[in-house]
Amino acid sequence: MNILILGSGGREHAFAWKLSQSKKCDNLYIAPGNAGTSAFGRNINISPVDFEAVKKTVLENNINMVVVGPEDPLVKGIHDFFLADEQLKTIPVIGPQRDGAQLEGSKDFSKKFMLRHKIPTAQYQTFTKETLAEGLLFLETLSPPYVLKADGLAAGKGVVIPTTLPEAKNELTEMLANAKFGNASAKVVIEEFLKGIELSVFVLTDGNSYKILPAAKDYKRIGEGDTGLNTGGMGAISPVPFANEEFIKKVEEGVIIPTINGLKAEGIVYKGFIFIGLMNVNGNPQVIEYNVRMGDPETEVVVPRIKSDLLELFEGVANGNLNEKTFETDSRFATTVMLVSAGYPEEYEKGKVITGLDEVEGSIAFHAGTIRTTNNQQPTTNGGRVIAVTSYGNSMEEALSKSFSNAEKITYEGKYYRKDIGNDLKIYYS
Ligand code: AMP
Ligand code: GLY
Repeated sequence: MNILILGSGGREHAFAWKLSQSKKCDNLYIAPGNAGTSAFGRNINISPVDFEAVKKTVLENNINMVVVGPEDPLVKGIHDFFLADEQLKTIPVIGPQRDGAQLEGSKDFSKKFMLRHKIPTAQYQTFTKETLAEGLLFLETLSPPYVLKADGLAAGKGVVIPTTLPEAKNELTEMLANAKFGNASAKVVIEEFLKGIELSVFVLTDGNSYKILPAAKDYKRIGEGDTGLNTGGMGAISPVPFANEEFIKKVEEGVIIPTINGLKAEGIVYKGFIFIGLMNVNGNPQVIEYNVRMGDPETEVVVPRIKSDLLELFEGVANGNLNEKTFETDSRFATTVMLVSAGYPEEYEKGKVITGLDEVEGSIAFHAGTIRTTNNQQPTTNGGRVIAVTSYGNSMEEALSKSFSNAEKITYEGKYYRKDIGNDLKIYYS
Protein backbone atom coordinates (compact mmCIF):
# COMPACT_ATOMS: atom_id res chain seq x y z
CA MET A 1 0.00 0.00 0.00
CA ASN A 2 1.02 3.58 -0.57
CA ILE A 3 0.28 5.79 2.41
CA LEU A 4 0.13 9.55 2.69
CA ILE A 5 0.57 11.04 6.18
CA LEU A 6 -0.53 14.66 6.57
CA GLY A 7 1.36 16.83 9.04
CA SER A 8 4.87 17.81 10.05
CA GLY A 9 5.41 17.14 13.73
CA GLY A 10 6.88 14.52 16.02
CA ARG A 11 3.51 12.77 15.85
CA GLU A 12 3.83 12.36 12.09
CA HIS A 13 7.44 11.20 12.41
CA ALA A 14 6.29 8.56 14.91
CA PHE A 15 3.51 7.45 12.52
CA ALA A 16 6.01 7.24 9.65
CA TRP A 17 8.46 5.25 11.81
CA LYS A 18 5.75 2.78 12.81
CA LEU A 19 3.93 2.45 9.47
CA SER A 20 7.23 1.86 7.65
CA GLN A 21 7.66 -1.29 9.79
CA SER A 22 4.53 -2.83 8.29
CA LYS A 23 4.99 -5.48 5.61
CA LYS A 24 1.97 -4.02 3.87
CA CYS A 25 3.55 -0.60 3.47
CA ASP A 26 5.13 -0.06 0.05
CA ASN A 27 5.68 3.67 -0.18
CA LEU A 28 5.22 6.39 2.38
CA TYR A 29 4.64 10.06 1.61
CA ILE A 30 4.53 12.77 4.24
CA ALA A 31 3.08 16.20 3.55
CA PRO A 32 4.80 18.41 4.38
CA GLY A 33 6.87 16.26 6.78
CA ASN A 34 10.17 17.27 8.37
CA ALA A 35 13.87 16.34 8.32
CA GLY A 36 13.09 13.15 10.26
CA THR A 37 10.19 11.84 8.17
CA SER A 38 12.29 11.91 5.00
CA ALA A 39 14.19 8.86 6.30
CA PHE A 40 10.99 6.81 5.89
CA GLY A 41 9.45 8.22 2.75
CA ARG A 42 9.14 11.19 0.48
CA ASN A 43 8.27 14.58 1.88
CA ILE A 44 5.90 16.57 -0.28
CA ASN A 45 5.85 20.27 0.37
CA ILE A 46 2.14 21.04 0.40
CA SER A 47 -0.16 22.26 3.14
CA PRO A 48 -2.52 19.66 4.66
CA VAL A 49 -5.36 22.17 4.39
CA ASP A 50 -4.83 22.74 0.67
CA PHE A 51 -7.25 19.98 -0.31
CA GLU A 52 -6.72 20.38 -4.06
CA ALA A 53 -2.96 19.93 -3.57
CA VAL A 54 -3.64 16.87 -1.40
CA LYS A 55 -5.86 15.47 -4.17
CA LYS A 56 -3.15 15.99 -6.75
CA THR A 57 -0.59 14.25 -4.51
CA VAL A 58 -2.93 11.31 -3.90
CA LEU A 59 -3.66 10.79 -7.59
CA GLU A 60 -0.09 11.27 -8.79
CA ASN A 61 1.32 8.79 -6.30
CA ASN A 62 -1.43 6.17 -6.32
CA ILE A 63 -2.07 6.66 -2.62
CA ASN A 64 -4.23 3.95 -1.01
CA MET A 65 -4.77 5.53 2.41
CA VAL A 66 -4.50 8.98 3.98
CA VAL A 67 -3.60 9.33 7.65
CA VAL A 68 -4.43 12.78 9.00
CA GLY A 69 -2.14 13.95 11.82
CA PRO A 70 -3.42 17.38 12.92
CA GLU A 71 -6.96 18.57 13.63
CA ASP A 72 -7.10 21.46 11.19
CA PRO A 73 -7.73 19.51 7.98
CA LEU A 74 -10.29 17.34 9.81
CA VAL A 75 -12.24 20.30 11.21
CA LYS A 76 -12.09 21.87 7.73
CA GLY A 77 -13.59 18.70 6.27
CA ILE A 78 -10.83 16.84 4.44
CA HIS A 79 -12.61 13.52 4.92
CA ASP A 80 -15.86 14.98 3.53
CA PHE A 81 -13.87 16.38 0.59
CA PHE A 82 -12.61 12.87 -0.23
CA LEU A 83 -16.08 11.32 0.06
CA ALA A 84 -17.58 13.95 -2.24
CA ASP A 85 -14.95 13.49 -4.96
CA GLU A 86 -15.48 10.81 -7.62
CA GLN A 87 -11.76 10.04 -7.88
CA LEU A 88 -11.06 10.04 -4.15
CA LYS A 89 -14.16 8.59 -2.54
CA THR A 90 -12.84 5.02 -2.29
CA ILE A 91 -9.56 6.06 -0.68
CA PRO A 92 -9.81 5.66 3.10
CA VAL A 93 -9.05 8.61 5.33
CA ILE A 94 -8.02 7.93 8.93
CA GLY A 95 -9.72 10.75 10.82
CA PRO A 96 -13.35 11.78 11.29
CA GLN A 97 -15.55 13.79 8.96
CA ARG A 98 -16.42 17.39 9.75
CA ASP A 99 -19.40 16.48 11.96
CA GLY A 100 -17.30 14.20 14.21
CA ALA A 101 -14.42 16.67 14.21
CA GLN A 102 -16.73 19.12 15.99
CA LEU A 103 -15.82 17.23 19.16
CA GLU A 104 -12.58 19.20 18.97
CA GLY A 105 -13.60 22.05 16.66
CA SER A 106 -16.28 23.39 19.00
CA LYS A 107 -16.06 23.29 22.81
CA ASP A 108 -19.76 24.16 22.96
CA PHE A 109 -20.62 21.19 20.72
CA SER A 110 -18.47 18.82 22.75
CA LYS A 111 -19.92 19.99 26.09
CA LYS A 112 -23.48 19.58 24.77
CA PHE A 113 -22.56 16.15 23.39
CA MET A 114 -21.24 15.09 26.81
CA LEU A 115 -24.41 16.31 28.51
CA ARG A 116 -26.62 14.47 26.00
CA HIS A 117 -24.76 11.23 26.62
CA LYS A 118 -24.23 11.64 30.37
CA ILE A 119 -20.46 11.69 30.06
CA PRO A 120 -18.84 13.10 33.21
CA THR A 121 -17.48 16.62 32.68
CA ALA A 122 -17.30 19.96 34.48
CA GLN A 123 -20.49 22.05 34.83
CA TYR A 124 -20.54 24.89 32.30
CA GLN A 125 -22.42 27.64 30.50
CA THR A 126 -21.81 29.14 27.07
CA PHE A 127 -21.93 32.88 26.32
CA THR A 128 -21.78 35.09 23.22
CA LYS A 129 -21.22 38.81 22.63
CA GLU A 130 -24.96 39.34 23.07
CA THR A 131 -24.97 37.59 26.45
CA LEU A 132 -21.71 39.09 27.75
CA ALA A 133 -23.53 40.82 30.64
CA GLU A 134 -24.97 37.48 31.79
CA GLY A 135 -21.51 35.93 31.45
CA LEU A 136 -20.02 38.57 33.72
CA LEU A 137 -22.75 37.94 36.30
CA PHE A 138 -22.24 34.18 36.00
CA LEU A 139 -18.55 34.63 36.83
CA GLU A 140 -19.60 36.31 40.08
CA THR A 141 -21.42 33.15 41.14
CA LEU A 142 -18.29 30.99 40.75
CA SER A 143 -15.28 30.64 42.98
CA PRO A 144 -11.75 30.98 41.57
CA PRO A 145 -9.91 29.83 39.55
CA TYR A 146 -12.12 30.47 36.51
CA VAL A 147 -11.92 28.35 33.36
CA LEU A 148 -12.70 30.23 30.12
CA LYS A 149 -12.56 28.39 26.82
CA ALA A 150 -12.83 29.88 23.35
CA ASP A 151 -15.35 27.73 21.46
CA GLY A 152 -13.30 27.20 18.29
CA LEU A 153 -9.74 26.20 17.40
CA ALA A 154 -7.27 28.76 18.71
CA ALA A 155 -3.93 27.03 18.12
CA GLY A 156 -3.90 25.60 21.63
CA LYS A 157 -4.19 29.03 23.25
CA GLY A 158 -7.94 29.22 23.66
CA VAL A 159 -8.14 28.09 27.31
CA VAL A 160 -7.47 30.73 29.93
CA ILE A 161 -7.57 30.11 33.69
CA PRO A 162 -7.56 33.44 35.58
CA THR A 163 -7.26 33.30 39.34
CA THR A 164 -9.09 36.52 40.22
CA LEU A 165 -12.57 37.78 39.36
CA PRO A 166 -11.41 41.06 37.72
CA GLU A 167 -8.99 39.14 35.50
CA ALA A 168 -11.71 36.66 34.58
CA LYS A 169 -14.14 39.46 33.70
CA ASN A 170 -11.51 41.22 31.66
CA GLU A 171 -10.64 38.00 29.82
CA LEU A 172 -14.28 37.23 29.03
CA THR A 173 -14.75 40.75 27.67
CA GLU A 174 -11.58 40.48 25.58
CA MET A 175 -12.71 37.17 24.12
CA LEU A 176 -16.33 38.09 23.38
CA ALA A 177 -16.40 41.83 22.78
CA ASN A 178 -12.90 42.31 21.37
CA ALA A 179 -12.61 38.96 19.53
CA LYS A 180 -9.30 38.09 21.24
CA PHE A 181 -9.18 34.78 19.34
CA GLY A 182 -11.05 36.04 16.29
CA ASN A 183 -14.06 33.98 15.34
CA ALA A 184 -12.89 31.14 17.65
CA SER A 185 -14.00 33.24 20.64
CA ALA A 186 -17.38 34.28 19.21
CA LYS A 187 -18.68 31.84 21.84
CA VAL A 188 -16.99 31.20 25.18
CA VAL A 189 -17.54 28.25 27.49
CA ILE A 190 -17.13 29.05 31.18
CA GLU A 191 -16.73 25.96 33.30
CA GLU A 192 -16.16 24.69 36.78
CA PHE A 193 -12.49 24.22 37.70
CA LEU A 194 -11.65 20.56 38.24
CA LYS A 195 -9.01 19.66 40.79
CA GLY A 196 -7.03 16.52 40.15
CA ILE A 197 -4.30 14.95 38.04
CA GLU A 198 -4.55 15.08 34.25
CA LEU A 199 -3.95 12.26 31.83
CA SER A 200 -4.86 11.37 28.28
CA VAL A 201 -6.52 8.24 27.01
CA PHE A 202 -6.45 7.43 23.30
CA VAL A 203 -8.95 5.37 21.38
CA LEU A 204 -8.86 4.13 17.79
CA THR A 205 -12.30 3.36 16.38
CA ASP A 206 -13.98 2.26 13.18
CA GLY A 207 -17.23 3.75 14.48
CA ASN A 208 -18.40 0.54 16.13
CA SER A 209 -15.55 -1.29 17.78
CA TYR A 210 -12.52 0.31 19.33
CA LYS A 211 -9.07 -0.31 20.74
CA ILE A 212 -7.93 1.52 23.85
CA LEU A 213 -4.34 2.59 23.26
CA PRO A 214 -1.82 3.12 26.07
CA ALA A 215 -2.59 6.14 28.26
CA ALA A 216 -0.07 8.95 28.58
CA LYS A 217 0.70 11.94 30.72
CA ASP A 218 1.83 15.13 29.05
CA TYR A 219 3.72 18.11 30.52
CA LYS A 220 2.09 21.20 29.09
CA ARG A 221 3.79 24.19 30.70
CA ILE A 222 7.09 25.61 29.51
CA GLY A 223 8.68 25.86 32.96
CA GLU A 224 9.83 23.25 35.44
CA GLY A 225 7.34 22.46 38.19
CA ASP A 226 4.60 23.05 35.59
CA THR A 227 4.92 26.81 35.58
CA GLY A 228 4.74 29.49 32.88
CA LEU A 229 2.97 29.50 29.56
CA ASN A 230 1.09 26.59 28.05
CA THR A 231 2.84 24.80 25.21
CA GLY A 232 1.81 21.97 22.92
CA GLY A 233 3.65 19.67 25.32
CA MET A 234 7.18 19.44 26.72
CA GLY A 235 7.35 15.71 27.33
CA ALA A 236 5.23 12.63 27.88
CA ILE A 237 5.23 9.40 29.83
CA SER A 238 3.42 6.13 29.23
CA PRO A 239 2.07 4.16 31.06
CA VAL A 240 0.50 6.42 33.67
CA PRO A 241 0.78 4.82 37.14
CA PHE A 242 -2.63 5.87 38.44
CA ALA A 243 -4.37 4.82 35.21
CA ASN A 244 -4.61 1.25 36.47
CA GLU A 245 -7.05 -1.37 35.25
CA GLU A 246 -9.79 -0.17 37.58
CA PHE A 247 -9.45 3.45 36.44
CA ILE A 248 -9.33 2.54 32.74
CA LYS A 249 -12.46 0.41 33.26
CA LYS A 250 -14.22 3.50 34.61
CA VAL A 251 -13.03 5.45 31.56
CA GLU A 252 -14.21 2.72 29.23
CA GLU A 253 -17.65 2.38 30.79
CA GLY A 254 -18.25 6.00 31.68
CA VAL A 255 -16.64 7.76 28.73
CA ILE A 256 -15.49 5.59 25.80
CA ILE A 257 -18.60 3.44 25.32
CA PRO A 258 -21.06 6.36 25.76
CA THR A 259 -18.95 8.45 23.35
CA ILE A 260 -18.93 5.83 20.61
CA ASN A 261 -22.59 4.96 21.14
CA GLY A 262 -23.45 8.66 21.25
CA LEU A 263 -21.72 9.31 17.93
CA LYS A 264 -23.56 6.38 16.38
CA ALA A 265 -26.91 7.44 17.80
CA GLU A 266 -26.42 10.90 16.30
CA GLY A 267 -25.61 9.45 12.88
CA ILE A 268 -21.98 10.58 13.03
CA VAL A 269 -19.74 8.07 11.25
CA TYR A 270 -16.43 8.27 13.11
CA LYS A 271 -13.30 6.57 11.82
CA GLY A 272 -10.12 7.61 13.52
CA PHE A 273 -8.58 8.53 16.82
CA ILE A 274 -10.38 9.98 19.81
CA PHE A 275 -8.03 11.63 22.30
CA ILE A 276 -9.77 12.04 25.63
CA GLY A 277 -8.22 14.62 27.95
CA LEU A 278 -9.19 13.60 31.47
CA MET A 279 -8.91 14.84 35.00
CA ASN A 280 -8.64 12.13 37.61
CA VAL A 281 -10.79 13.63 40.37
CA ASN A 282 -10.42 11.38 43.42
CA GLY A 283 -10.23 8.26 41.28
CA ASN A 284 -13.08 9.28 38.98
CA PRO A 285 -12.49 10.39 35.39
CA GLN A 286 -13.97 13.70 34.23
CA VAL A 287 -13.57 14.75 30.60
CA ILE A 288 -11.69 18.02 30.08
CA GLU A 289 -11.74 17.85 26.32
CA TYR A 290 -11.91 15.69 23.26
CA ASN A 291 -9.43 15.90 20.42
CA VAL A 292 -10.07 14.14 17.15
CA ARG A 293 -6.46 13.14 16.50
CA MET A 294 -3.49 11.81 18.41
CA GLY A 295 -1.62 14.09 20.81
CA ASP A 296 1.82 15.49 20.26
CA PRO A 297 4.14 14.60 22.06
CA GLU A 298 1.93 11.79 23.44
CA THR A 299 2.13 9.92 20.12
CA GLU A 300 5.89 9.70 20.57
CA VAL A 301 5.33 7.47 23.63
CA VAL A 302 2.02 5.82 22.73
CA VAL A 303 2.93 4.59 19.23
CA PRO A 304 6.25 3.05 20.35
CA ARG A 305 4.25 1.03 22.90
CA ILE A 306 1.97 -0.46 20.23
CA LYS A 307 3.38 -3.84 19.24
CA SER A 308 0.76 -4.66 16.61
CA ASP A 309 0.98 -3.55 13.01
CA LEU A 310 -0.50 -0.03 12.94
CA LEU A 311 -1.32 -0.31 9.24
CA GLU A 312 -3.39 -3.44 9.94
CA LEU A 313 -5.25 -1.49 12.60
CA PHE A 314 -5.85 1.40 10.19
CA GLU A 315 -7.18 -1.08 7.63
CA GLY A 316 -9.56 -2.31 10.32
CA VAL A 317 -10.71 1.28 10.84
CA ALA A 318 -11.24 1.80 7.12
CA ASN A 319 -13.00 -1.53 6.51
CA GLY A 320 -15.08 -1.57 9.69
CA ASN A 321 -13.51 -4.76 11.05
CA LEU A 322 -11.24 -3.35 13.72
CA ASN A 323 -12.72 -5.92 16.14
CA GLU A 324 -10.98 -8.68 14.15
CA LYS A 325 -7.53 -7.13 14.53
CA THR A 326 -5.16 -8.14 17.28
CA PHE A 327 -3.90 -5.41 19.49
CA GLU A 328 -0.84 -5.89 21.64
CA THR A 329 1.11 -3.41 23.66
CA ASP A 330 4.67 -3.30 24.93
CA SER A 331 4.80 -3.49 28.70
CA ARG A 332 7.90 -1.33 28.90
CA PHE A 333 7.82 2.34 29.79
CA ALA A 334 8.26 4.94 27.10
CA THR A 335 9.25 8.51 27.89
CA THR A 336 9.84 11.49 25.68
CA VAL A 337 11.56 14.80 26.35
CA MET A 338 10.85 17.66 23.95
CA LEU A 339 13.70 19.92 22.90
CA VAL A 340 12.39 23.37 22.01
CA SER A 341 13.68 26.67 20.64
CA ALA A 342 14.63 29.58 22.90
CA GLY A 343 11.58 31.78 23.35
CA TYR A 344 9.00 29.09 22.62
CA PRO A 345 5.95 29.20 23.00
CA GLU A 346 6.30 32.88 22.18
CA GLU A 347 8.62 34.34 19.50
CA TYR A 348 11.59 32.18 18.55
CA GLU A 349 14.19 32.05 15.80
CA LYS A 350 14.43 29.31 13.19
CA GLY A 351 17.29 28.05 11.04
CA LYS A 352 19.70 26.91 13.79
CA VAL A 353 21.91 24.01 12.71
CA ILE A 354 21.25 20.82 14.67
CA THR A 355 24.22 18.60 15.52
CA GLY A 356 24.74 15.47 17.56
CA LEU A 357 21.85 13.46 16.13
CA ASP A 358 24.29 10.72 15.05
CA GLU A 359 25.46 10.36 18.63
CA VAL A 360 22.02 9.45 19.94
CA GLU A 361 22.17 5.94 21.36
CA GLY A 362 19.37 3.95 22.93
CA SER A 363 16.70 6.57 22.14
CA ILE A 364 14.69 7.56 19.10
CA ALA A 365 14.92 11.20 18.05
CA PHE A 366 11.50 12.02 16.61
CA HIS A 367 11.78 15.24 14.66
CA ALA A 368 9.18 17.99 15.04
CA GLY A 369 10.14 21.45 13.77
CA THR A 370 13.15 20.50 11.65
CA ILE A 371 13.97 20.92 7.97
CA ARG A 372 16.70 19.80 5.61
CA THR A 373 16.90 22.29 2.81
CA THR A 374 18.92 20.20 0.38
CA ASN A 375 19.94 16.56 0.52
CA ASN A 376 22.64 15.53 2.97
CA GLN A 377 22.73 18.87 4.67
CA GLN A 378 22.56 19.14 8.44
CA PRO A 379 18.99 19.59 9.58
CA THR A 380 18.09 22.99 10.96
CA THR A 381 15.40 24.11 13.37
CA ASN A 382 12.13 25.10 11.74
CA GLY A 383 9.70 25.42 14.64
CA GLY A 384 9.25 25.94 18.35
CA ARG A 385 9.24 22.27 19.19
CA VAL A 386 12.28 20.72 17.56
CA ILE A 387 12.98 17.11 18.59
CA ALA A 388 11.26 14.63 20.90
CA VAL A 389 13.75 12.22 22.44
CA THR A 390 11.90 8.96 23.15
CA SER A 391 13.28 6.02 25.12
CA TYR A 392 12.10 2.68 26.41
CA GLY A 393 12.91 1.36 29.85
CA ASN A 394 11.92 -1.34 32.27
CA SER A 395 11.26 1.46 34.70
CA MET A 396 10.23 5.05 34.14
CA GLU A 397 13.54 6.19 35.60
CA GLU A 398 15.55 4.04 33.21
CA ALA A 399 13.66 5.38 30.19
CA LEU A 400 13.96 8.96 31.43
CA SER A 401 17.67 8.72 32.06
CA LYS A 402 18.22 7.63 28.44
CA SER A 403 16.01 10.45 27.14
CA PHE A 404 17.89 13.02 29.22
CA SER A 405 21.37 11.81 28.34
CA ASN A 406 20.54 11.82 24.63
CA ALA A 407 18.84 15.21 24.97
CA GLU A 408 22.25 16.50 26.09
CA LYS A 409 23.97 15.15 22.98
CA ILE A 410 21.73 16.95 20.51
CA THR A 411 22.74 20.59 20.21
CA TYR A 412 21.57 23.76 18.52
CA GLU A 413 21.64 27.39 19.56
CA GLY A 414 18.93 28.14 22.09
CA LYS A 415 18.08 24.52 22.95
CA TYR A 416 15.84 24.22 26.01
CA TYR A 417 14.08 21.30 27.63
CA ARG A 418 12.43 20.54 30.93
CA LYS A 419 14.55 18.41 33.20
CA ASP A 420 11.66 17.52 35.51
CA ILE A 421 9.58 15.38 33.15
CA GLY A 422 8.15 12.49 35.18
CA ASN A 423 9.20 13.91 38.57
CA ASP A 424 5.60 14.13 39.75
CA LEU A 425 5.10 10.41 39.04
CA LYS A 426 8.13 9.18 40.96
CA ILE A 427 6.12 8.87 44.19
CA TYR A 428 4.13 6.06 42.58
CA TYR A 429 7.28 4.01 42.05
CA SER A 430 9.16 4.69 45.28
P1 AMP B 1 -7.74 22.17 26.81
O1 AMP B 1 -7.23 23.00 25.68
O2 AMP B 1 -9.22 22.02 26.87
O3 AMP B 1 -6.94 20.90 26.97
O4 AMP B 1 -7.33 22.95 28.15
C1 AMP B 1 -6.00 23.29 28.40
C2 AMP B 1 -5.65 22.97 29.81
O5 AMP B 1 -6.45 23.73 30.71
C3 AMP B 1 -5.93 21.53 30.19
O6 AMP B 1 -4.90 20.69 29.83
C4 AMP B 1 -6.08 21.65 31.69
O7 AMP B 1 -4.80 21.69 32.30
C5 AMP B 1 -6.72 22.97 31.87
N1 AMP B 1 -8.18 22.83 32.03
C6 AMP B 1 -9.11 22.82 31.07
N2 AMP B 1 -10.35 22.67 31.59
C7 AMP B 1 -10.18 22.61 32.93
C8 AMP B 1 -11.08 22.47 34.03
N3 AMP B 1 -12.40 22.42 33.87
N4 AMP B 1 -10.57 22.44 35.26
C9 AMP B 1 -9.22 22.53 35.45
N5 AMP B 1 -8.33 22.66 34.48
C10 AMP B 1 -8.80 22.70 33.22
N1 GLY C 1 -0.15 17.48 23.74
C1 GLY C 1 -1.45 17.95 23.65
C2 GLY C 1 -2.06 17.92 22.33
O1 GLY C 1 -1.59 17.30 21.39
O2 GLY C 1 -3.12 18.52 22.18
